[in-house]
Amino acid sequence: MVSVKAYLGSIFYMTDDPAVVAVPDCYRYVADGMLIVEGGIITAIGAQRELEENLPKSAEVFDHTGSMITPGFIDTHIHFPQLDMIASFGEQLLDWLDRYTFPEEAKFSDPAHAKECAEFFLNELLRNGTTTALIYGTVHKQSVEALFEEAFARNMRIVAGKALMDRNVPEAVRDTAETSDRDNRELIARWHGKGRLGYAITPRFAPACSDEQLTMAGKLLGEHPDVLMHTHLSENVSEIDWVKDLYPTAKDYLDVYDRFGLLTDRSVFAHCVHLEGEEFQRMAERGAAISYCPTSNLFLGSGLFNLKEAEKYGVDVGLGTDVGAGTSFSLLQTMNEAYKVCHLRGHKLDAFKSFYLATLGGAKALNMADKVGSLEVGREADFLVLDMHSTPLLSRRLKHASTVEETLFVLSMLGDDRAISHTYVAGVCQHRKG
Ligand code: GUN
Ligand code: ZN
Repeated sequence: MVSVKAYLGSIFYMTDDPAVVAVPDCYRYVADGMLIVEGGIITAIGAQRELEENLPKSAEVFDHTGSMITPGFIDTHIHFPQLDMIASFGEQLLDWLDRYTFPEEAKFSDPAHAKECAEFFLNELLRNGTTTALIYGTVHKQSVEALFEEAFARNMRIVAGKALMDRNVPEAVRDTAETSDRDNRELIARWHGKGRLGYAITPRFAPACSDEQLTMAGKLLGEHPDVLMHTHLSENVSEIDWVKDLYPTAKDYLDVYDRFGLLTDRSVFAHCVHLEGEEFQRMAERGAAISYCPTSNLFLGSGLFNLKEAEKYGVDVGLGTDVGAGTSFSLLQTMNEAYKVCHLRGHKLDAFKSFYLATLGGAKALNMADKVGSLEVGREADFLVLDMHSTPLLSRRLKHASTVEETLFVLSMLGDDRAISHTYVAGVCQHRKG
């Protein structure tokens, strides 16, 4: 018999994009709530006093009264091999890649190193309340093998892929169109759809992939109808100039990916800081998604993403930490910087939209909103527990918060990994603070 588990606390989740469905119809908040989970799936959610009457005596009850339960965070863009060079000083994208990133990624030819990093990395995601992520491996097949093995052991909903990079990069991190085709096929056959895992075809970015390799990537994507495509786009001005030199006849950077069949409703493009209106429109028409990575865009001096423009054209957007160019695993800290970037762009990013981007918006971007990103009945029970007293300042400030929106906003400004007291994956506690 499937055991019944019940979780108590205030419960909050987004039901829609506040840019499309106005407040209060875009969220649900239950002050004294109960979430009921059977076999890792949410079977009921509502007021404790209404649901507890019918709870079987055998149900296990987890009491988080005083804390807030929200969906697990979704990180739509992160690099697992960049743990040991996060916070590297002084360079913008292209020099940062050459000076710090590629030498670090070369170490992942060693499966023992990959395994140790994968363990730390996934535990760090969980410590920060992140239950789903779209993840870059290195060029080495064994880096992704190690990551999938560890994610499978934790039953996490993770999508990852081996980086494709066969030109303009050091030999130690270079593949070929032929070897990357073989490696991708083997990885898809072995891992895609195993447990809660999924595969993403992952060209590093256009300047690091030959035409032959991008052609192969497009073909592979066409052959595997539920595999994702994950890459970088229009992050940095020098990068964009380089792409113009490499593809003088392309309409723009997005057109380069489009030429190879990589602009689809399963495509996720990180950054998109310097997109033009027409590019947003083409992305919306094709159903492609953007990963907005504010801590990275500030750290590398890349620029200020235009969220309003993405909203105007109706492009799906999620939040990405982009560790190690991003400076925090915490989606709360990522919301904090997203707010400031929007402020500099002249608009106000409210807390409902921030939490939407970090949960349901991310799930939509990864084509998995029917599985995760909210706490609706039938969804997988990935959620976190927010400790409203995790620091003296947070505790003090929250006493003066009079609405859910204000509470969420304060959490997004003052909260970080310390605010995540528990992380549940398919109803099982995978992280408990302290
Ligand atoms: N563009 C190509 N590779 C990378 C990377 O590793 N990080 C970021 N931020 N941008 C990239
Ligand atoms: Zn990145």
